[in-house]
Parts: sequence; C-alpha cells; structure tokens
Amino acid sequence: MPVVPMKDLLDRALAERYGVPAFNVVNDLTVEAVLAAAAEERSPVVLQTSVKTVRAYGRRQLFDVVATMARDVDVPVTLHLDHCPDRAVISDCLAGGWNSVLFDAHELDVAENLRQTTEVVAEAHARGAHVEGEIEGIQGVEDGIGSDDAPVVQTLEVAVDFIQRTGVDCFAPAIGNAHGQYTAAPVLDHQRVSDLVAATGVPMALHGGTGLSAEQFQDLIARGCAKVNISTALKQVFLQSSLEFLREAETRGKWDPPSFFAHQRTAVKDMAAEHMRTFGSSGRAW
Ligand code: 13P
Repeated sequence: MPVVPMKDLLDRALAERYGVPAFNVVNDLTVEAVLAAAAEERSPVVLQTSVKTVRAYGRRQLFDVVATMARDVDVPVTLHLDHCPDRAVISDCLAGGWNSVLFDAHELDVAENLRQTTEVVAEAHARGAHVEGEIEGIQGVEDGIGSDDAPVVQTLEVAVDFIQRTGVDCFAPAIGNAHGQYTAAPVLDHQRVSDLVAATGVPMALHGGTGLSAEQFQDLIARGCAKVNISTALKQVFLQSSLEFLREAETRGKWDPPSFFAHQRTAVKDMAAEHMRTFGSSGRAW
C-alpha cells in the first residue's frame, strides 16, 4: 500500500534527519517520472499540486491520475495540496483523497489565521489527513499565489504559539528562502529552523528549494526541515528538455511523440533522483 499519511512520512524523516522531497507535479508525465525516480532510489516522496494544477486538471481527474500511477509503486507516497488560501478548495481536496494540505492564510492576521487553521486541522484530521501551516508568506509567486515582496517575519514566540495551538503537523517558516530562481545567494536563518523544532517537535517544510546548494539543503535538513519543496527545477527541466528535443526534431524533420515523451521523462526523473540523493531520502523507503 504505497499511499501513506503525510505525518508518517515526515515524523520518520524528522527522527532520522533526512528530507522527503516534495515535487510540484504538473501532469501525468511528471507524476510518473517522479514516481519512477522514487521507486529506483527507494525513496519516500511527496507529490504536491498547486491550486492552479488542480483547477486545470479537475480535482477528480488529477486524483485519479495520481492514484492510478501510485498503485503499483512500492515506496511510500503522499499527495499534498501546496499553498492554498481557499477553504473551498481545501475541503474539496480533503474530501477527494488528498493526504495533506497547506492552508496558506498568511494574508490574514495571525489571530484569524490561527482560528481558521485550527478548523482546517480538525477537518483534515477527521479524514486521516494532515496540515501544513504558514503565517508569514514565502517570497516569490508560486503558480499565481504569493508576492515578490519580502514577508513580514513573526517572532519565534508567535510562530511557536501558532504551531502549538493549531496542532498543525508541519510548518513552513520564512527563513530568507524564496520561490523561483534566486537572483542573489540567499542568506538563510538556519537557527530559526533549529529553534522552532526544539520548541515544538514539529517537522518544518523548506520552501523555495530550487537554487539552494547541497550544503544548504543538508544543514537545514539536519536542523529539522523534513519536507523539501522543489517546483521551479521540475518546471525548468521539463520545459527545457522539451525545447531541446523540439529544436532537434525540427532540424532533422522527424516528429515522434513517444521519443519526445521519453526524453522529457528521463530529464524529470534524473532531476528528481538527484534531489533524493542530496536530501538523504534514497534507500529510506519502508
Ligand atoms: P521552488 O519553485 O523555488 O523550487 O519552490 C517550491 C516551493 O516551495 C513550492 O511551494
């Protein structure tokens, strides 16, 4: 039974200090390629979907694609909804089989965010699903959600109180990380991750994974980032490998869709496998 609760995946990763990669998949090909990498690496994996992808595919169709492809893969897999400020989409995905959701209410004040996140946690837990919480916003726009402005960072006390009172299963802190490619080397507040984990025992989600170095990943994972998000790297490798193939096809005057798909799949699979090795999740499947 490969589909497992998010909490099982993350609590184990936190205890053993490796990072579970969470890839923002965009279609059936990327779902299959990431799962193939996980199977080959014997790595647990999170498949996450943006609200935009859920809307583009249709919730039921997207769930069916993931469920069908995960069925025969013999490693732990979890389906997660990335940054979602919309309670209706949260409820729809929880009812539709998602194992976990990021209720992104950072645009609300912390008190209202806390009140609503507590409700989302109750709703998710009643279904055996889990919740990632966020109070600060992660810099950069991810599939139409977010802002390029630097977020207002809350104090450690406010963040710890939010985590403890809401009962979230995972928390996404702002530590100088950002979605998309970094335009300058990020200065990360590593200590904040250590402090949050020491105070709460809750695994952290590292957003903005694309562009961080192996040393940065490994340091943050050792401090308690048990979920590591990768979106831009997947989109880039998927589209750049496509462009490369299509340019070559045009030059040679040969148009063969199955070779095109195989080329895209290899590029996405290799990118995913490399992250699994960097995050120490290879060989951790149970
Ligand atoms: P990147 O696009 O920088 O990899 O960030 C992914 C992410 O954090 C998704 O929520």
